[in-house]
Formats: sequence, structure tokens, C-alpha cells
Amino acid sequence: MRIGILTSGGDCPGLNAVIRAAVLGGIKQHGHEFVGIRDGWRGLVAGDVRVLNRSSVRGISRVGGTILGTSRTNPFEGDQGGPANIAATMERLGIDAVLAIGGEGTLAAGKRLSDAGIPIVGVPKTIDNDLDATDYTFGFDTAVQIATEAGDRLRTTGDSHMRCMVLEVMGRHVGWIALHAGMAVGAHAILIPEQPRSIDEICDWAQQVYDRRRAPLIVVSEGFRLEGMEEAHSHKGLDAFNRPRLGGISELITPEIEARTGIESRSTVLGHIQRGGAPTGADRVLATRFGLAAIEAVHQQAWGQMVSLRGTDIVRVPFADALVGLKVVPEERYHEAELLFG
Ligand code: F6P
Repeated sequence: MRIGILTSGGDCPGLNAVIRAAVLGGIKQHGHEFVGIRDGWRGLVAGDVRVLNRSSVRGISRVGGTILGTSRTNPFEGDQGGPANIAATMERLGIDAVLAIGGEGTLAAGKRLSDAGIPIVGVPKTIDNDLDATDYTFGFDTAVQIATEAGDRLRTTGDSHMRCMVLEVMGRHVGWIALHAGMAVGAHAILIPEQPRSIDEICDWAQQVYDRRRAPLIVVSEGFRLEGMEEAHSHKGLDAFNRPRLGGISELITPEIEARTGIESRSTVLGHIQRGGAPTGADRVLATRFGLAAIEAVHQQAWGQMVSLRGTDIVRVPFADALVGLKVVPEERYHEAELLFG
């Protein structure tokens, strides 16, 4: 078989490890051939591909980003988009099947294409860890590691000046990165989208810490919303993809803490640093296992399925299962962390 691999949506540490494992596994186990599709669905629609062989994937597991490039192109849009055009392009290029590595949007598009008869297998990807159909996604561990290092660094400078330090991490809809990094650094408060809190509660936690002569450290997800201050969040408007602009919640909270408590406060927005650079060992292992399992799924023509981690096993689930909803932080996981706030 000649298999096309694409990476789509936001990049994520571990994408290259999936590509490497799929290519090496497919060549060694079954003698398949591979092409890399450039820039996600854009490359599939445009027929923009390059050959991938053993030497093209040598040593790439430890490299961040994706060697194939990525985009947020919708494969159903444009003159050349849609299943019929894509099937014709695949035929012209001799591509028998597609391995699509991506998040919710990619898997949703993959499902529609698969329903229309395009042979596709999926690999889930997101640093946010918000896909319900898999216990963990690669990239998440790396993001938590980077956020943890940042939190540790903020703690020493915060302690030195007796300042309240607010660290904003990624997490558009869910608070997994904040929860895990916040626990790892021993944050005095963790603020996540699933659990709106009022500025009074946050100030209370900061004050309790300060009264014990400690410098408060707060970790907040970019998607967190202040209870009772909803209008303050709408000022950023929508981005080019019609999504609410995020980033900057820490810049809203930090001056409020300072104004209300008198504790000198500083904010840090970690941003895309969480997505760049080398994946952790754990993410390389998960991504490699996903790549190997996905190529087996392609070999067995398990179209419309994606690989997923359940416990310690890699299993297959239909695309539809990945799209039933977001995996939010359960209340009990948040309350467990909350026991140590303040
Ligand atoms: O979904 C992954 C993610 O990194 C979110 O945490 C973040 O809100 C978003 O992507 C950022 O997207 P972009 O790279 O398009 O700014």
C-alpha cells in the first residue's frame, strides 16, 4: 500500500515520533510505501506530497513540531476540496490510504471524509488532553513539564520579592495542563475553565498565603472565567477562525489581586512555549506506540477508526467516539487539588 501521512491543526510535541514509528513500522512489518502530505488537509486537497522513507524519518522523534508542516485548512472548502476531488487527487498520486494525525477538528473532518468513502485512520493529538476517546494524548506531558519548570522558576523569584506570581498556561476549554502543572509546583490556587471562581475567593487564597509569610503562586488556564466578571472577558473579540481570543486572563486577575490585597503581583503568559521544542520521553513513547498501532489499523483497513490509549493498552475507537464531547476535569479531581489551596 502507498500511505499518505498528514498532521493537521495546532502542532504538538510528539507528532514526529508518530510519523517515524508509522513509516518504520509500515516499511519493516509490511513493506508499505509512504508519502508525507504537506500542511495537513491543504496538502491532500492540493496534492502536495513528498516521499517518506527510512532516511527521511531518521532521528526525528526527539524533534518538536512536525516535519510535514500543518494548517487549519478545511478539506471540504475550496474548488479542489470535498471527497470526490480528494479521491481523484489520491488516485492521481497513487495514495491508497491516509493516516491523519490531529485534534478534534481533524478527526471531525476525517470522519466526514471516511463516511464518504475515503480510506482514513486517525491518531489523536492535543496538548490540552481534552479528547474524551483517549486517556492521554502525546504532547500533554511535555506541556505539563514546561509549565512545571516555569512555575518552579516563578516561585524562586516570587519568594525573593514576596510577590504574588500568576502563571497562565494553555487550555482553551479544559484545565488539565493547569491542574497537573499546578499540583506539580504546589500552587496555592489553580484556576480552570470548568470551575469559575470569584476574584474575592482568589484574593482570599493569596492573602492566606501572604499572611504565612509566603509568596502566593497561582496557576490559571487561559480559558478560565472569573465568576461575576463575565463582561471583562469579552474585550478581546474573535480571532480569524471565529474563536474567542484567549490569552491574557492572568493580566486581568493579577492587577485585581494587587489592588484588592495590596500584595505586589506579577503575571506570566507561557503561551506557545508549551507547544514548542522536544517532547518528553513519555510523550515520545506514547506517540511511537500510536504510530505503530495506527499503521496496523491501516494495514488491516480499519477505516474510520482512530487509535487511543485505554489504561496501558492502545486500542481502536471509531472517529465518532472522539467527537462526543470534551474530556473535562472531573469535579473530584479539582477538589482534590483544592484541598491544598491557600
Ligand atoms: O488546542 C491546543 C492549543 O494549544 C490551545 O491550548 C490553545 O488555546 C490553542 O491551541 C492555540 O492555538 P493557536 O496556535 O492557533 O494560537
